[in-house]
Amino acid sequence: MSDNQLANKSQAWSALFSEPMSDLVKRYTASVGFDQRLWRADITGSLAHAEMLAAQGILSAEDHAAIQRGLTEIAAEIEAGQFEWKLDLEDVHLNIEARLTERVGIAGKRLHTGRSRNDQVATDVRLWLRGEIDEISGLLKALQAVLVEKASEHADVILPGFTHLQVAQPVSFGHHLLAYVEMFARDAERMADTRRRVNRLPLGAAALAGTSYPLDRERVARTLGMEACAQNSLDAVSDRDFAIEFSAAASLVMLHISRLSEELILWMSQNFGFIALPDAFCTGSSIMPQKKNPDVPELARGKTGRVVGHLVGLVTLMKGQPLAYNKDNQEDKEPLFDTVDTLKDTLRIFADMLAGLTVKPEAMRAAALKGHATATDLADYLVKKGLPFRDAHEVVAHAVKTATLKGVDLAALSLDELKAFDARVEADVFDVLSLEGSLNARNVLGGTAPAQVRAQVARHRARLA
Ligand code: ARG
Repeated sequence: MSDNQLANKSQAWSALFSEPMSDLVKRYTASVGFDQRLWRADITGSLAHAEMLAAQGILSAEDHAAIQRGLTEIAAEIEAGQFEWKLDLEDVHLNIEARLTERVGIAGKRLHTGRSRNDQVATDVRLWLRGEIDEISGLLKALQAVLVEKASEHADVILPGFTHLQVAQPVSFGHHLLAYVEMFARDAERMADTRRRVNRLPLGAAALAGTSYPLDRERVARTLGMEACAQNSLDAVSDRDFAIEFSAAASLVMLHISRLSEELILWMSQNFGFIALPDAFCTGSSIMPQKKNPDVPELARGKTGRVVGHLVGLVTLMKGQPLAYNKDNQEDKEPLFDTVDTLKDTLRIFADMLAGLTVKPEAMRAAALKGHATATDLADYLVKKGLPFRDAHEVVAHAVKTATLKGVDLAALSLDELKAFDARVEADVFDVLSLEGSLNARNVLGGTAPAQVRAQVARHRARLA
């Protein structure tokens, strides 16, 4: 077959096949519609493979030069949007290879020596995902930096902390934001850890059993900046753990975004009124002129379901597969692509949106003054004056009951009224019953005292620098 015949023929693997595929089956089996986004990784992998083949004397210097030139030209074509992707050529790999042969002739046909699409696609996905993880890590860092600066600004702003969504104890708004910084910091660690296992080289496993050519796999790994070669050919072509791990890490990021979203939505409602989001991240109602809806956090909460769905999809994709490669694996791409797109957009939008967050300290404070948020502080005060904690708990419960009946906060009872519950109460009790007193008292590592919040802000700033 001439080179042109290879480039133009309608199926890439064909001599054995006597019957053409229907258009429906072609569409069903082809992946080029979505896997073309792997083109850069595919070319990078091919260049590294060809370089090694030449170094090992498997490919002549001329053929290597022709392949290099051809692939570089193809990259330029694709970048310029001039590459014609053909459904008949099934996937990104066969499209690029056919075009290479079209451009450089017989050398193009030699590129696939010692390689299969099975180890090729596994390599491509890993190379692509490694780059995406690096971008996501940068975005996670940027989001953390925004939250840390907001936390610093609002270290002294007090809002009610909740358990069971009931007012529990007052906390610093900065402290609250830093809780999310902890989550996103763990997410970044998980991404870095996942990257280590993504960054291993399947190439050289060929179809499933390795290859009879004297390949130097370590050389390819070095060229591609990969940490190691996959050590078992069957595992190399069929392993998609790395995709599942990434997807799990991405799901956790989205889960944290979703929890934050839920809080933003609550805080923005008229019943809380703690914050305002910039208009650019909200939308109005087509019927109610007064409405401003927190669409972005709501969508992020919704998109979390989609990303978690992809994780479940990938796990299910793998659960019944025998070794080694099966075409099922082609289904790993769309969930991964959508996960990456959703995650990157969400992280970018959240960094911008939170940078424009407006805080309403008076509303937060008013809410913290409801619900006897400093009751624990009164109990602790009595304990420090010698009362056992259980008894103090009981005394304060009586005081809370009285305050509730009077329709005032615990902190609004008079010294005489408080003394009636326990004679140990003195004028200094109001230091602990105040919101500021309550916060400052929690000056323990990880506590909500503004001094602790400022220390954490400093630690995060140094970590993120
Ligand atoms: N498009 C395929 C995929 O994404 C490439 C590997 C095809 N290998 C094969 N033996 N059919 O998985």
